[in-house]
Amino acid sequence: MYRTHTCGELRLTDAGKTVTLAGWVQRTRDLGGMTFVDLRDRYGITQLAFHPGDEVEQALVAQARVLGREFVVQVSGLVTERESKNKNIPTGEVEIVVQELNILNEAKLPPFTIEEDTDGGDELRMKYRYLDLRRPFVRSHFELRHRMAIAVRNYLSEQGFLEVETPVLIKSTPEGARDFVVPSRMNQGEFYALPQSPQTFKQLLMVAGFDRYFQIVKCFRDEDLRADRQPEFTQIDCEMAFVEREDILRTFEGLAKHLFKAILGREFDAPFPRMSYDEAMRDYGCDKPDLRFGMKFKELNDLAQGSGFKVFDEAQLVVGINAEGCAGWSRKQTDALIDFVKRPQIGASGIVFLKWTEEGLKSTVDKFYGPEVLANWTERFGMKPGDLACIMAGPAVKTRKQLNELRLHLGDQLGLRDPWRFEPLWVLDFPLLEKDEASGRWHAMHHPFTSPIPEHAHLLEQDPGMVKANAYDLVINGTEIGGGSIRIHDRSMQEAMFRVLGFTDEDARYKFGFLLDAFEYGAPPHGGAAFGFDRWVALFGGRSDIREFIAFPKNNAGRDTMIDAPSRLDADQFKELGIATVS
Ligand code: AMO
Repeated sequence: MYRTHTCGELRLTDAGKTVTLAGWVQRTRDLGGMTFVDLRDRYGITQLAFHPGDEVEQALVAQARVLGREFVVQVSGLVTERESKNKNIPTGEVEIVVQELNILNEAKLPPFTIEEDTDGGDELRMKYRYLDLRRPFVRSHFELRHRMAIAVRNYLSEQGFLEVETPVLIKSTPEGARDFVVPSRMNQGEFYALPQSPQTFKQLLMVAGFDRYFQIVKCFRDEDLRADRQPEFTQIDCEMAFVEREDILRTFEGLAKHLFKAILGREFDAPFPRMSYDEAMRDYGCDKPDLRFGMKFKELNDLAQGSGFKVFDEAQLVVGINAEGCAGWSRKQTDALIDFVKRPQIGASGIVFLKWTEEGLKSTVDKFYGPEVLANWTERFGMKPGDLACIMAGPAVKTRKQLNELRLHLGDQLGLRDPWRFEPLWVLDFPLLEKDEASGRWHAMHHPFTSPIPEHAHLLEQDPGMVKANAYDLVINGTEIGGGSIRIHDRSMQEAMFRVLGFTDEDARYKFGFLLDAFEYGAPPHGGAAFGFDRWVALFGGRSDIREFIAFPKNNAGRDTMIDAPSRLDADQFKELGIATVS
């Protein structure tokens, strides 16, 4: 037996016991005669004490002095009350007076310190991720992830959901990203795709009569990466038969409330607020508004156009937000806001400011607008003395997007985005389709299996741009945590949808014939949703980068620097797969 106790377990009540512990050396303190070692494992840190005395003890002290950081050791000794207690750790009242020390494995000096505030940069920590994961703070993310997975399974099982695994080597499922593909050795020239989600399989499980399905499942998408995106990520994937939108929203609002309560101890009594896509775009310029703070958009076309200020006169949209209490901002601070929106990623041309200071109203466009007009603006923005309005103008869609960036930036700057405050929201009534201006083709905004709201079903082929989807997103604090829809369950409507998306009949049959066929064998009405598990865990961990909650994540170039993947194949492997290489 390697140990009788863990390093997080012993208390004053254990004093007098002889115990054996095993773990890693966190640090050694050599105080001339006495030597102390902090021994660490997953459960905590326990202090080991080496007292010089007789020959055996002297030998132990000598052994302890050569212990390096991260050596793996086993010790036996007596649990003893400590003279100087450490109130900061649960084991801080005791130490082990060591009687036997056994080095199980030596360790090279780690490339960074394995402590809360490590000196290791991102790249180094990812290359040695197994060392990074030894840090208690990092490990706590995985304890949170584990607890959340259990809470999800408990809730969904109680609701009658059945966990079913679906295949990973499949045919492309269009979720809007590129597929990762896998060549088939046995079927040369043909490829599997890794699932962007189990979408078609979960629908087939409804045709199979499984009624309620869920899976905590890996999904794969070849897309550009950001803090909240990984090429392989995990979904809580769910589907239900014989349901309408309300049934789904109730079930998954229940899941969210269960997680809030079970994991964070937060109660949400009231139903989550709901907002239509159109409202979200109009009031916040994005389909996932962060409701932890106000700064709702206010449109100003009627009050700002026709006064000779060309930028506003010629704009499709003049729209602004009120940054409360910011009238005292310096020129440098407001210039920094302009620089922010002018960055190429945002691409705005500028901001017009209206300040309400002790001296009255002051704007950067005073020469075009008299005091009464500006007073009307303040009324529109709901301004009071001390406030600063930021106004932008241009093409409607683009300007709303740019103002959304500015709103979030101001929210950050003003400390309005407290990670421990949670504001969930359902966004509903998305457009079913969006037009790609370059190709003129319609794309499914969610995916091609989403049904129109019943009132719009007849418009699908007549006027696709007008059709609203029976789809919903769960947004918390400006993050899209999940989304789903009521599905098409009828072959002819599914075929119509494929036609609108520009698939030929042959194409649709080649890609989705199995689903169209299944719809002819008694497909029940059904719908579902999927939640980004990594995102949800990160949100509950108070962080924004999902990589901190993935044991072995990829970097922004899609690489795992620890195992050095992706990597090249041997010529033999290509040959076996029947793939010719271009050199
Ligand atoms: P969707 O594509 O909206 O829906 O995905 C569901 C949720 O998965 C998360 N997510 C991601 N998380 C991390 N990295 C990524 N690259 C990534 N992509 C998506 C988001 C998102 O809300 N089959 C449908 C669901 C359905 O209709 O039932 C689907 O996959 O949190």
